[in-house]
Amino acid sequence: MNTLRELMAALPKAELHLHLEGSVMPLTLIELAAKNNIVLPEYAKPLDLYEFDKDLAAFLNVYNLVCESIVDHQDFERVTYECLANCHMNGARYVELFFSPQAHFKYGVSYATCLNGVVAGKNRAFEDLGIECQLIPGVNREKPADENLAFLHTILNTQRDQVVGIGLDYYENPFPPELHLETFQLAKEQGLRLTAHAGEAGPAENVQKSVDILGCERIDHGYHIVDSPDMLAEFSKGDIVFTVCPSTTTITTHWHDLADPQHAIKRMVEGGLKVMINSDDPPMMGTDLANEYVLLVEQMGFSLSDIKAFILNGVDAAWISEDKKAYWHKEWAKEIDDLFSKYTTNVQSNLAQSNSGGLVNHDQ
Ligand code: ADE
Ligand code: ZN
Repeated sequence: MNTLRELMAALPKAELHLHLEGSVMPLTLIELAAKNNIVLPEYAKPLDLYEFDKDLAAFLNVYNLVCESIVDHQDFERVTYECLANCHMNGARYVELFFSPQAHFKYGVSYATCLNGVVAGKNRAFEDLGIECQLIPGVNREKPADENLAFLHTILNTQRDQVVGIGLDYYENPFPPELHLETFQLAKEQGLRLTAHAGEAGPAENVQKSVDILGCERIDHGYHIVDSPDMLAEFSKGDIVFTVCPSTTTITTHWHDLADPQHAIKRMVEGGLKVMINSDDPPMMGTDLANEYVLLVEQMGFSLSDIKAFILNGVDAAWISEDKKAYWHKEWAKEIDDLFSKYTTNVQSNLAQSNSGGLVNHDQ
């Protein structure tokens, strides 16, 4: 293991902020669109399909096109398996996967079709690769409150054992968290866990409201909390974990430069918040999970001990049993230490070799 990339891909990790539809590789999108008679924009090379202006609204337009292209059980099974295979290649051992059923309803696709296809894909990924996954249906904050409540009833009335919680997502600014209070209250009463995208393109107060009003246990993104020193201080004392996504910040926020010492993630960590690292919509954001960790070190200046802390925050924030948390905490910490020491030994010996003239044996 010689490169930082290899190290980051090898580390055991949880991915708690990943959207199924945002994980579809462009070649898969092209095949699904052809199969389902969806017209895609013109492109010279597949990745051009994921070129969009750097803002959340532009991103969501492309995201919705991907959603339109995933139609039947087999499509959902395929994209879920491919998504989790990618996670596995990046060292993720455990994934909480968002999917966006409401984005498929308008094309006549039912919740049961989405869910059954996703469950089939995740079961196959577990059998083949051992990767564990639980599901989080995303609630679209742009939809009217009563429509979201009806969607929650559909979730509650359908097979539930693989669905661990709900999350609030989509365009943040004109749609504050409190609009969906009833949905979140009922979800909590019914034993679902709660998270919300907040403080990504919207203000710091959306973070506070998501926790205080909706009862969220995690915050997805949360970057604008750095605009409020009081809130930063308050959240640094609590247990809320922020699922941050470095590459996404360069696209959907004004923090375009990860190397900026004032970058929100840097300030969140310096302010004492608990963060863990995710890839959000990897091919659409031009990244993957291992790369997100490489960026933390190479561009944001975080140390290997920061990396270990972020990974273990991910275990703490996972919606799994306390026993499993304690077990992974201990086992992953050992594995991380072991991988770090192999990596630093290799880097040091490579350095020594190159300082002594590389592979040439000067004794001969
Ligand atoms: N859906 C998928 N990715 C998202 C993001 N970064 N923000 C809001 N909604 C999303
Ligand atoms: Zn997201």
